Amino acid sequence: QHPKPYSIACIPADGIGPEVIAAGVQVLKTLSAASGSFQLSFTDYDWSSETYKKTGQYIPAGGLDSLKAHDAILFGAVGAPDVPDHLSLWGLRLAICQPFQQYANVRPTRILRGTESPLRKAAPGDLDWVIVRENSEGEYAGQGGRSHRGRAWETATEVSIFTRAAVERVMRFAFETARGRPRKTLTYVTKSNAQRNGMVMWDEIALEVAREFPDVKVDKMLVDAMTCRMVLQPQSLDTIVATNLHADILSDLAAALAGSIGIAPTSNLDPTREHPSMFEPIHGSAFDITGKGVANPVGTFWTAAEMLRWLGEEEAADKLMECIEKVCEKKIVTRDLGGEATTKQVTSAVCEEIKQAY
Ligand code: NAI
Ligand code: MG
Repeated sequence: QHPKPYSIACIPADGIGPEVIAAGVQVLKTLSAASGSFQLSFTDYDWSSETYKKTGQYIPAGGLDSLKAHDAILFGAVGAPDVPDHLSLWGLRLAICQPFQQYANVRPTRILRGTESPLRKAAPGDLDWVIVRENSEGEYAGQGGRSHRGRAWETATEVSIFTRAAVERVMRFAFETARGRPRKTLTYVTKSNAQRNGMVMWDEIALEVAREFPDVKVDKMLVDAMTCRMVLQPQSLDTIVATNLHADILSDLAAALAGSIGIAPTSNLDPTREHPSMFEPIHGSAFDITGKGVANPVGTFWTAAEMLRWLGEEEAADKLMECIEKVCEKKIVTRDLGGEATTKQVTSAVCEEIKQAY
Protein backbone atom coordinates (compact mmCIF):
# COMPACT_ATOMS: atom_id res chain seq x y z
CA GLN A 1 0.00 0.00 0.00
CA HIS A 2 1.14 3.54 -0.82
CA PRO A 3 1.74 5.87 2.10
CA LYS A 4 -1.14 8.30 2.57
CA PRO A 5 -0.07 11.83 1.52
CA TYR A 6 -0.79 14.97 3.54
CA SER A 7 0.09 18.51 2.68
CA ILE A 8 1.06 20.71 5.64
CA ALA A 9 1.39 24.51 5.61
CA CYS A 10 4.07 25.74 8.03
CA ILE A 11 3.93 29.24 9.47
CA PRO A 12 6.82 29.50 11.94
CA ALA A 13 6.48 33.33 12.26
CA ASP A 14 8.22 35.05 15.20
CA GLY A 15 10.61 34.61 18.12
CA ILE A 16 11.15 30.95 19.04
CA GLY A 17 8.47 29.97 16.49
CA PRO A 18 11.03 29.11 13.76
CA GLU A 19 13.17 27.13 16.26
CA VAL A 20 10.35 24.93 17.53
CA ILE A 21 8.71 24.47 14.13
CA ALA A 22 12.02 23.30 12.62
CA ALA A 23 12.23 20.78 15.46
CA GLY A 24 8.63 19.71 14.90
CA VAL A 25 9.14 19.21 11.17
CA GLN A 26 12.26 17.10 11.82
CA VAL A 27 10.32 14.86 14.21
CA LEU A 28 7.36 14.57 11.83
CA LYS A 29 9.64 13.62 8.91
CA THR A 30 11.35 10.98 11.05
CA LEU A 31 7.98 9.63 12.11
CA SER A 32 6.53 9.41 8.60
CA ALA A 33 9.70 7.71 7.30
CA ALA A 34 9.66 5.21 10.18
CA SER A 35 5.96 4.40 9.92
CA GLY A 36 5.84 4.11 6.13
CA SER A 37 2.05 4.49 6.28
CA PHE A 38 1.81 8.21 5.61
CA GLN A 39 3.83 10.91 3.91
CA LEU A 40 3.96 14.61 4.73
CA SER A 41 4.90 17.43 2.42
CA PHE A 42 5.60 20.81 3.98
CA THR A 43 5.11 24.24 2.42
CA ASP A 44 6.73 27.16 4.25
CA TYR A 45 5.02 30.50 4.59
CA ASP A 46 7.30 33.30 5.77
CA TRP A 47 4.45 35.41 7.20
CA SER A 48 5.74 37.14 10.32
CA SER A 49 6.22 40.43 12.09
CA GLU A 50 9.28 40.96 9.86
CA THR A 51 7.16 40.80 6.71
CA TYR A 52 4.60 43.04 8.44
CA LYS A 53 7.23 45.67 9.14
CA LYS A 54 8.36 45.56 5.49
CA THR A 55 5.02 45.35 3.72
CA GLY A 56 2.38 46.51 6.23
CA GLN A 57 0.67 43.11 6.03
CA TYR A 58 1.02 39.77 7.77
CA ILE A 59 -0.89 37.85 5.12
CA PRO A 60 -0.36 38.90 1.50
CA ALA A 61 -3.23 39.13 -0.98
CA GLY A 62 -4.47 35.63 -1.87
CA GLY A 63 -2.67 34.16 1.15
CA LEU A 64 -5.71 32.64 2.81
CA ASP A 65 -6.79 30.98 -0.44
CA SER A 66 -3.40 29.39 -0.78
CA LEU A 67 -3.65 28.03 2.79
CA LYS A 68 -6.96 26.38 1.94
CA ALA A 69 -5.20 23.94 -0.35
CA HIS A 70 -3.48 22.22 2.60
CA ASP A 71 -4.70 19.46 4.89
CA ALA A 72 -3.49 21.24 8.04
CA ILE A 73 -1.53 24.26 9.23
CA LEU A 74 1.38 24.07 11.66
CA PHE A 75 1.87 27.42 13.37
CA GLY A 76 4.73 28.70 15.57
CA ALA A 77 4.06 31.92 17.44
CA VAL A 78 3.41 35.52 16.50
CA GLY A 79 4.49 38.65 18.37
CA ALA A 80 7.51 40.96 18.25
CA PRO A 81 8.81 43.48 20.77
CA ASP A 82 8.39 46.36 18.33
CA VAL A 83 4.88 45.55 17.06
CA PRO A 84 1.87 46.08 19.36
CA ASP A 85 0.50 42.66 20.34
CA HIS A 86 -3.05 43.45 19.24
CA LEU A 87 -1.77 44.10 15.69
CA SER A 88 0.23 40.88 15.49
CA LEU A 89 -2.49 38.70 17.01
CA TRP A 90 -5.25 40.10 14.81
CA GLY A 91 -2.98 40.38 11.77
CA LEU A 92 -1.94 36.74 11.63
CA ARG A 93 -3.42 34.27 14.10
CA LEU A 94 -6.98 35.52 14.36
CA ALA A 95 -6.88 36.40 10.64
CA ILE A 96 -6.69 32.64 10.01
CA CYS A 97 -8.82 31.26 12.88
CA GLN A 98 -11.83 33.48 12.29
CA PRO A 99 -12.38 33.22 8.50
CA PHE A 100 -11.60 29.49 8.62
CA GLN A 101 -14.21 29.10 11.38
CA GLN A 102 -11.82 27.15 13.57
CA TYR A 103 -14.36 27.48 16.32
CA ALA A 104 -13.09 24.82 18.68
CA ASN A 105 -9.76 25.52 20.33
CA VAL A 106 -8.70 22.33 22.05
CA ARG A 107 -6.01 22.25 24.73
CA PRO A 108 -5.10 18.95 26.32
CA THR A 109 -2.91 19.11 29.42
CA ARG A 110 -1.41 16.39 31.51
CA ILE A 111 1.70 15.74 33.55
CA LEU A 112 4.05 13.86 31.22
CA ARG A 113 5.89 10.88 32.67
CA GLY A 114 9.34 11.93 33.83
CA THR A 115 8.25 15.51 34.53
CA GLU A 116 7.05 17.18 37.71
CA SER A 117 4.08 19.39 38.44
CA PRO A 118 4.68 22.43 40.66
CA LEU A 119 1.75 21.04 42.66
CA ARG A 120 3.43 19.17 45.50
CA LYS A 121 0.95 16.30 45.57
CA ALA A 122 0.19 15.86 41.87
CA ALA A 123 1.77 12.99 39.95
CA PRO A 124 1.20 11.90 36.31
CA GLY A 125 -2.43 10.80 36.09
CA ASP A 126 -3.63 13.29 38.70
CA LEU A 127 -3.88 16.06 36.16
CA ASP A 128 -5.31 14.97 32.83
CA TRP A 129 -7.58 17.55 31.24
CA VAL A 130 -8.85 18.76 27.89
CA ILE A 131 -9.90 22.39 27.78
CA VAL A 132 -12.24 23.34 24.94
CA ARG A 133 -12.18 27.06 24.24
CA GLU A 134 -14.79 28.86 22.16
CA ASN A 135 -12.61 30.31 19.40
CA SER A 136 -14.80 32.41 17.14
CA GLU A 137 -16.53 35.13 19.17
CA GLY A 138 -17.13 36.04 22.83
CA GLU A 139 -14.76 38.53 24.36
CA TYR A 140 -12.48 38.39 21.31
CA ALA A 141 -15.19 39.16 18.76
CA GLY A 142 -13.52 42.46 17.96
CA GLN A 143 -16.60 44.59 18.66
CA GLY A 144 -16.18 47.91 20.37
CA GLY A 145 -14.64 51.29 19.84
CA ARG A 146 -12.74 54.22 21.27
CA SER A 147 -13.70 57.84 21.31
CA HIS A 148 -12.35 61.12 22.76
CA ARG A 149 -8.80 59.79 22.46
CA GLY A 150 -6.38 61.33 24.92
CA ARG A 151 -9.04 63.38 26.72
CA ALA A 152 -9.85 62.94 30.39
CA TRP A 153 -13.24 61.55 29.29
CA GLU A 154 -11.80 59.08 26.80
CA THR A 155 -14.15 56.13 26.43
CA ALA A 156 -13.55 52.59 25.22
CA THR A 157 -15.91 49.65 24.86
CA GLU A 158 -15.01 46.00 24.38
CA VAL A 159 -18.25 44.22 23.67
CA SER A 160 -18.56 40.48 24.13
CA ILE A 161 -20.67 38.72 21.53
CA PHE A 162 -22.38 35.46 22.37
CA THR A 163 -24.59 33.82 19.76
CA ARG A 164 -26.73 30.75 20.29
CA ALA A 165 -25.35 29.15 17.13
CA ALA A 166 -21.72 29.50 18.24
CA VAL A 167 -22.30 28.46 21.85
CA GLU A 168 -24.32 25.42 20.79
CA ARG A 169 -21.74 24.17 18.32
CA VAL A 170 -18.81 24.48 20.71
CA MET A 171 -20.86 22.94 23.52
CA ARG A 172 -21.75 19.96 21.33
CA PHE A 173 -18.09 19.58 20.41
CA ALA A 174 -17.13 19.67 24.11
CA PHE A 175 -19.70 17.01 25.02
CA GLU A 176 -18.44 14.80 22.21
CA THR A 177 -14.88 15.27 23.47
CA ALA A 178 -15.96 14.39 27.01
CA ARG A 179 -17.81 11.31 25.74
CA GLY A 180 -14.63 10.07 24.06
CA ARG A 181 -12.64 10.14 27.31
CA PRO A 182 -12.68 7.51 30.07
CA ARG A 183 -14.23 9.69 32.79
CA LYS A 184 -16.99 11.16 30.58
CA THR A 185 -17.28 14.35 32.62
CA LEU A 186 -17.74 17.87 31.29
CA THR A 187 -17.28 20.94 33.47
CA TYR A 188 -18.75 24.09 31.94
CA VAL A 189 -17.26 27.29 33.22
CA THR A 190 -18.92 30.71 33.15
CA LYS A 191 -19.39 33.80 35.30
CA SER A 192 -23.16 33.82 35.32
CA ASN A 193 -23.51 35.38 38.74
CA ALA A 194 -21.96 38.68 37.67
CA GLN A 195 -22.58 38.64 33.91
CA ARG A 196 -26.26 38.03 33.66
CA ASN A 197 -26.89 37.91 29.90
CA GLY A 198 -24.34 36.09 27.80
CA MET A 199 -23.12 33.89 30.64
CA VAL A 200 -26.63 32.88 31.69
CA MET A 201 -27.30 31.90 28.07
CA TRP A 202 -24.12 29.76 28.17
CA ASP A 203 -25.40 27.97 31.27
CA GLU A 204 -28.80 27.36 29.69
CA ILE A 205 -27.33 26.03 26.45
CA ALA A 206 -24.98 23.74 28.40
CA LEU A 207 -27.98 22.11 30.08
CA GLU A 208 -29.96 21.90 26.82
CA VAL A 209 -27.12 20.19 24.95
CA ALA A 210 -26.50 17.94 27.97
CA ARG A 211 -29.82 16.23 27.25
CA GLU A 212 -28.34 14.87 24.00
CA PHE A 213 -25.50 13.30 26.02
CA PRO A 214 -27.09 11.41 28.91
CA ASP A 215 -23.91 9.34 29.31
CA VAL A 216 -21.79 12.42 30.09
CA LYS A 217 -21.71 13.79 33.63
CA VAL A 218 -22.20 17.57 33.72
CA ASP A 219 -20.61 19.82 36.24
CA LYS A 220 -20.88 23.62 36.57
CA MET A 221 -18.26 26.10 37.84
CA LEU A 222 -17.80 29.84 38.10
CA VAL A 223 -14.48 30.84 36.57
CA ASP A 224 -12.97 32.34 39.73
CA ALA A 225 -13.72 29.26 41.81
CA MET A 226 -12.42 27.15 38.92
CA THR A 227 -8.88 28.50 39.39
CA CYS A 228 -8.92 27.21 42.99
CA ARG A 229 -10.28 23.83 41.99
CA MET A 230 -7.64 23.38 39.29
CA VAL A 231 -4.92 23.96 41.88
CA LEU A 232 -6.46 22.12 44.85
CA GLN A 233 -8.36 19.22 43.27
CA PRO A 234 -6.86 18.56 39.83
CA GLN A 235 -8.05 14.94 39.96
CA SER A 236 -11.69 16.09 40.04
CA LEU A 237 -11.60 17.58 36.51
CA ASP A 238 -11.57 16.05 33.04
CA THR A 239 -13.04 17.91 30.05
CA ILE A 240 -13.67 21.63 30.47
CA VAL A 241 -15.51 24.10 28.22
CA ALA A 242 -15.41 27.89 28.56
CA THR A 243 -15.56 31.15 26.64
CA ASN A 244 -12.73 32.51 24.54
CA LEU A 245 -11.29 34.72 27.32
CA HIS A 246 -11.91 32.44 30.29
CA ALA A 247 -10.47 29.38 28.58
CA ASP A 248 -7.49 31.39 27.31
CA ILE A 249 -6.54 32.18 30.90
CA LEU A 250 -7.45 28.79 32.39
CA SER A 251 -5.42 26.96 29.78
CA ASP A 252 -2.22 28.90 30.53
CA LEU A 253 -2.77 28.05 34.20
CA ALA A 254 -3.31 24.43 33.19
CA ALA A 255 -0.05 24.34 31.23
CA ALA A 256 1.90 25.79 34.16
CA LEU A 257 0.31 23.33 36.61
CA ALA A 258 1.36 20.49 34.33
CA GLY A 259 4.96 21.68 34.54
CA SER A 260 5.69 24.29 31.87
CA ILE A 261 4.09 26.48 29.25
CA GLY A 262 6.71 24.90 26.95
CA ILE A 263 4.98 21.51 26.73
CA ALA A 264 1.34 22.25 25.94
CA PRO A 265 -0.34 22.01 22.52
CA THR A 266 -3.31 23.77 20.94
CA SER A 267 -5.57 22.73 18.08
CA ASN A 268 -7.73 25.30 16.34
CA LEU A 269 -10.30 23.04 14.73
CA ASP A 270 -12.94 23.53 12.09
CA PRO A 271 -14.95 20.44 13.05
CA THR A 272 -16.92 20.67 9.78
CA ARG A 273 -13.60 20.09 7.96
CA GLU A 274 -14.52 22.64 5.34
CA HIS A 275 -11.26 24.50 6.09
CA PRO A 276 -7.90 23.19 7.24
CA SER A 277 -7.41 23.24 11.01
CA MET A 278 -4.43 24.94 12.62
CA PHE A 279 -2.10 23.42 15.22
CA GLU A 280 0.31 25.38 17.44
CA PRO A 281 2.14 25.16 20.73
CA ILE A 282 0.29 27.16 23.38
CA HIS A 283 3.26 29.41 24.16
CA GLY A 284 4.14 32.71 22.49
CA SER A 285 7.30 33.97 20.82
CA ALA A 286 9.33 34.09 24.07
CA PHE A 287 11.70 36.96 23.23
CA ASP A 288 13.73 36.30 26.38
CA ILE A 289 15.05 32.98 25.02
CA THR A 290 14.87 33.54 21.25
CA GLY A 291 18.00 32.44 19.38
CA LYS A 292 19.54 30.76 22.41
CA GLY A 293 18.68 27.23 21.31
CA VAL A 294 16.97 26.39 24.62
CA ALA A 295 13.27 26.61 23.67
CA ASN A 296 11.37 23.53 24.75
CA PRO A 297 10.20 21.78 21.55
CA VAL A 298 7.88 19.38 23.41
CA GLY A 299 4.87 21.70 23.04
CA THR A 300 5.38 21.55 19.26
CA PHE A 301 5.89 17.76 19.28
CA TRP A 302 2.67 17.26 21.22
CA THR A 303 1.02 19.71 18.78
CA ALA A 304 2.30 17.55 15.91
CA ALA A 305 0.75 14.49 17.58
CA GLU A 306 -2.59 16.28 17.87
CA MET A 307 -2.37 17.23 14.19
CA LEU A 308 -1.75 13.61 13.18
CA ARG A 309 -4.68 12.48 15.31
CA TRP A 310 -6.96 14.99 13.57
CA LEU A 311 -5.73 13.76 10.17
CA GLY A 312 -6.60 10.18 11.16
CA GLU A 313 -3.09 8.91 11.97
CA GLU A 314 -3.93 7.77 15.50
CA GLU A 315 -1.26 5.13 15.73
CA ALA A 316 1.56 7.50 14.79
CA ALA A 317 0.18 10.10 17.21
CA ASP A 318 0.20 7.60 20.10
CA LYS A 319 3.71 6.46 19.21
CA LEU A 320 4.98 10.03 19.13
CA MET A 321 3.52 10.77 22.60
CA GLU A 322 5.12 7.61 23.92
CA CYS A 323 8.52 8.68 22.51
CA ILE A 324 8.21 12.17 24.03
CA GLU A 325 7.49 10.69 27.46
CA LYS A 326 10.40 8.25 27.18
CA VAL A 327 12.75 11.15 26.50
CA CYS A 328 11.34 13.05 29.49
CA GLU A 329 11.85 9.98 31.66
CA LYS A 330 15.50 9.96 30.59
CA LYS A 331 15.63 13.58 31.84
CA ILE A 332 16.65 14.87 28.43
CA VAL A 333 14.67 18.07 29.00
CA THR A 334 15.16 21.81 28.57
CA ARG A 335 15.71 24.36 31.35
CA ASP A 336 12.01 25.17 31.84
CA LEU A 337 11.56 21.53 32.96
CA GLY A 338 14.61 21.65 35.20
CA GLY A 339 17.05 20.09 32.73
CA GLU A 340 20.03 21.27 30.72
CA ALA A 341 19.29 19.92 27.24
CA THR A 342 19.10 22.17 24.19
CA THR A 343 16.24 22.22 21.68
CA LYS A 344 18.41 20.18 19.30
CA GLN A 345 19.34 17.55 21.91
CA VAL A 346 15.70 16.97 22.87
CA THR A 347 14.77 16.77 19.18
CA SER A 348 17.49 14.22 18.36
CA ALA A 349 16.54 12.14 21.39
CA VAL A 350 12.89 12.02 20.30
CA CYS A 351 13.93 11.10 16.73
CA GLU A 352 16.07 8.24 18.11
CA GLU A 353 13.12 6.94 20.15
CA ILE A 354 10.92 7.06 17.04
CA LYS A 355 13.38 4.93 15.08
CA GLN A 356 13.40 2.39 17.95
CA ALA A 357 9.60 2.39 18.16
CA TYR A 358 9.02 0.88 14.70
P1 NAI B 1 5.43 33.52 26.02
O1 NAI B 1 4.68 32.25 25.99
O2 NAI B 1 6.12 33.92 24.77
O3 NAI B 1 6.52 33.48 27.19
C1 NAI B 1 6.18 33.38 28.56
C2 NAI B 1 7.35 32.77 29.35
O4 NAI B 1 7.42 31.37 29.05
C3 NAI B 1 8.71 33.35 28.95
O5 NAI B 1 9.52 33.43 30.09
C4 NAI B 1 9.27 32.32 28.00
O6 NAI B 1 10.67 32.26 27.97
C5 NAI B 1 8.67 31.02 28.51
N1 NAI B 1 8.45 30.08 27.41
C6 NAI B 1 7.51 30.15 26.46
N2 NAI B 1 7.63 29.15 25.58
C7 NAI B 1 8.68 28.41 25.99
C8 NAI B 1 9.31 27.23 25.50
N3 NAI B 1 8.88 26.60 24.38
N4 NAI B 1 10.39 26.75 26.17
C9 NAI B 1 10.84 27.36 27.27
N5 NAI B 1 10.28 28.47 27.79
C10 NAI B 1 9.21 29.00 27.16
O7 NAI B 1 4.39 34.66 26.45
P2 NAI B 1 4.57 36.25 26.53
O8 NAI B 1 5.94 36.57 27.03
O9 NAI B 1 3.39 36.75 27.25
O10 NAI B 1 4.43 36.77 25.04
C11 NAI B 1 5.51 37.01 24.16
C12 NAI B 1 4.95 37.36 22.79
O11 NAI B 1 4.27 36.23 22.27
C13 NAI B 1 3.94 38.50 22.80
O12 NAI B 1 4.15 39.28 21.63
C14 NAI B 1 2.61 37.81 22.73
O13 NAI B 1 1.61 38.57 22.14
C15 NAI B 1 2.96 36.61 21.86
N6 NAI B 1 2.07 35.45 22.06
C16 NAI B 1 1.69 34.78 20.95
C17 NAI B 1 0.93 33.64 21.03
C18 NAI B 1 0.59 32.91 19.79
O14 NAI B 1 1.16 33.15 18.75
N7 NAI B 1 -0.35 32.00 19.82
C19 NAI B 1 0.48 33.12 22.33
C20 NAI B 1 0.97 33.88 23.47
C21 NAI B 1 1.73 35.01 23.32
MG1 MG C 1 -3.17 32.61 25.70
